[in-house]
Amino acid sequence: MENEPAFFETSPKPNVVGKPLNRVDGRDKVMGRAKYAAEYPLPGLTYGVLKTSDIAKGRVQSIDTSVAMKEPGVIAIFTHENLPKLAKTPNDADGKKAIGAPMGFMPLTSDMIYYAGQPVAVVVADTFERATHAARLVRVNYAADKPIAAYTNPAAQLFNPEKIQDGKADGHTRRGDAKTALAGAPVKLSATYTHAINHHNPMEPGATTAVWEAPDRLTVYESTQGVTRTQKALSTMLGLPQEQVRVITKFIGGGFGCKGSCWPHTVLTVQAAKAVGRPVKLVLTRQQQFTSMGHREDQTQTLNVGATQDGKLLALVHTKTSTTSPWDNYAEANSKIINLLYDCPTFESSYELARANVMTSTFTRAPGEAPGSFAIECAMDDLAYQLGIDPIEIRLRNYAEKDPSTGQPWSSKSLRECYARGAELFGWSKRNPKAGLTRDGNTLVGWGMATASYPVHNSQGTARVRLYADGHAVVQSGATDLGTGTYTVMTQVAADSLGLPPEKIRFELGDTKLPTAPNSGGSVAAGTVSSSVYAAAQDVWERLTKIAIKDPKSPLFKAKPEDVAMENGRLQLKASPAKGEDFMALMKRAGLDDIEGTGQGKYGAGYETGRPGNPAGPNNNTESAGKHSMHSFGAHFCEVHVDPQLGTVRVTRWVSVHAAGRILNAKTARSQIIGGSIFGIGAALMEATARDPNYARYTNADLADYHIPVNADIPDMTVEFIDEHDPYINAMGVKGIGEISMVGVSAAVANAVFHATGKRVRDLPITPNKIL
Ligand code: MOS
Repeated sequence: MENEPAFFETSPKPNVVGKPLNRVDGRDKVMGRAKYAAEYPLPGLTYGVLKTSDIAKGRVQSIDTSVAMKEPGVIAIFTHENLPKLAKTPNDADGKKAIGAPMGFMPLTSDMIYYAGQPVAVVVADTFERATHAARLVRVNYAADKPIAAYTNPAAQLFNPEKIQDGKADGHTRRGDAKTALAGAPVKLSATYTHAINHHNPMEPGATTAVWEAPDRLTVYESTQGVTRTQKALSTMLGLPQEQVRVITKFIGGGFGCKGSCWPHTVLTVQAAKAVGRPVKLVLTRQQQFTSMGHREDQTQTLNVGATQDGKLLALVHTKTSTTSPWDNYAEANSKIINLLYDCPTFESSYELARANVMTSTFTRAPGEAPGSFAIECAMDDLAYQLGIDPIEIRLRNYAEKDPSTGQPWSSKSLRECYARGAELFGWSKRNPKAGLTRDGNTLVGWGMATASYPVHNSQGTARVRLYADGHAVVQSGATDLGTGTYTVMTQVAADSLGLPPEKIRFELGDTKLPTAPNSGGSVAAGTVSSSVYAAAQDVWERLTKIAIKDPKSPLFKAKPEDVAMENGRLQLKASPAKGEDFMALMKRAGLDDIEGTGQGKYGAGYETGRPGNPAGPNNNTESAGKHSMHSFGAHFCEVHVDPQLGTVRVTRWVSVHAAGRILNAKTARSQIIGGSIFGIGAALMEATARDPNYARYTNADLADYHIPVNADIPDMTVEFIDEHDPYINAMGVKGIGEISMVGVSAAVANAVFHATGKRVRDLPITPNKIL
């Protein structure tokens, strides 16, 4: 590290930060007191139910609501023929951009059908059951066309986009002359990897409760990863000032990316509530969840690797082909991680898309890095076996001392430590270097490992701290808690920043009335919000210091502000700590019941460029503006038992070691890594949504047929963190762990399967038919 980490001086001395504090909202959740978006019993509440399209392409020829309207309790039925128009829709030329909508099309704006499951009507009734019944009675006549289901359809037209949307990457990336380097490389590997469609499937489906307090004033209780983003999208579409749209999200039952944007069902609920003049609640059914909030796209990657006989990489050439919707060029940016994980002098990547009759895919559990790491980490394993080099050793031979994709130094990187500790915990040295030779009775045993990495994106947010003279504090930021622990870790950060015990802190989030915070997405929330809370507390101490040094009765009277520091809720002289006083005494003397501070926390390059003395300047807010490349790193180790007769794969041991800067809570962090690794194991072995190639409809859109791991599928997991201090990423030194937990997981499983069986499966999920 070239500098002494800044946060040692600036961020709070950890007391409760880092400790395995129990969830502060845990009791409310198990007691049923935690209110989710569909649990607000508003007066006059009505129930909305979507009627969705059976066909994937064509037109609504006619739609008959007359029978349904006569059913008891039915209040209104909206179709493209009678739904009042929005001020702006994503269909408009600039609409998608203005709204920040994930999808360039809004249902019920015309008779066109572009995908199966597209809403064609919204039924509003006095009960959910009556609305559901009436929706079945709405008669729709379609003029159906033959849909295209996927890029694999021979009729699909492939094209190279300039940019891929939302995935935040160029359609083409080149570094050096990779093709020439590949052609001349002594060792060459080429392999193709396919990834099934995955759905997010949070326990709580998409849910909206919309209430108009006045014709131009709206409150929405929404299951979203970001209240501000939803507020902006809705206010633009409705043509209302932002402050007249309030979005509240106190609890979320998981999101995994699908709740990172404002999707059509939310807008339709808001429109229906306005039209009926009563609050409307709409909850997606599990089946509708598969066609309403995006998915991970079906995709194929080809990775060509050129290397020396010693296993040193010379060239990486990557292509990806995937399905997108009729309107958007969305693709996960798989190539980013492939471009930076190892020291390789040349690199080239390109994307191909095909339009099909599907909704737009979206960020899904480590978008880009998860499937991208599957390709590069399987390829590194192949290279290791081919050259007879240990899989960890070959990664160390290609260890990137700086970011190969930008040439920048890392802000911090403790990957060597992750490999070493993971190998030790797993017992890697006892591994038989040959595949297919380790047995436990009739079962084949395999060990595999893979590298993990996730970027520190650029983000900022604000927080407010109100400190009371009786020794408690209310701390607020409009963040969200996906269930991963935002309430808890921010309580810890506030406690240490204010020198109070955690039970004296009330942390509030999930409301656009609170100071703005980013989406809980892209792993930015913990670092951004913790830094905001810390900055807001600093603001309080600065205000109190000013009061103290002007107060003749204070021991700090006439002290210089820069000589004063806070320790355990006491303002005191840095040089002689005995000289000082408790904030409660100071506030009481000043006649203050409470004092408020606000603060802005920056995360990523924006923080680094904002630091004093940095010539890049504080206002440069682009992702590439920092001097350092900022990433978390880790390593997964997996043991599988494979039944050679049945082809079943059972994960029997798991070790993950990560380095992600400061860990705010040992318990919630461990849980988050376990959870992420489990859904990585799901993607590796089970998860796949089947889209019928003729009808472009999902055939397993429920949790009985969309397989995810259950407790019996998962062994005891070992998770550790490397102690890492990073002064560049934010004031708290927190890199975030939302997504890294999943990166590399499917490769670690596939590599273990190869070690067990000698068979390389590059088609996810690795189901028994692919082993036999
Ligand atoms: Mo995450 S897939 O950025 O919600």
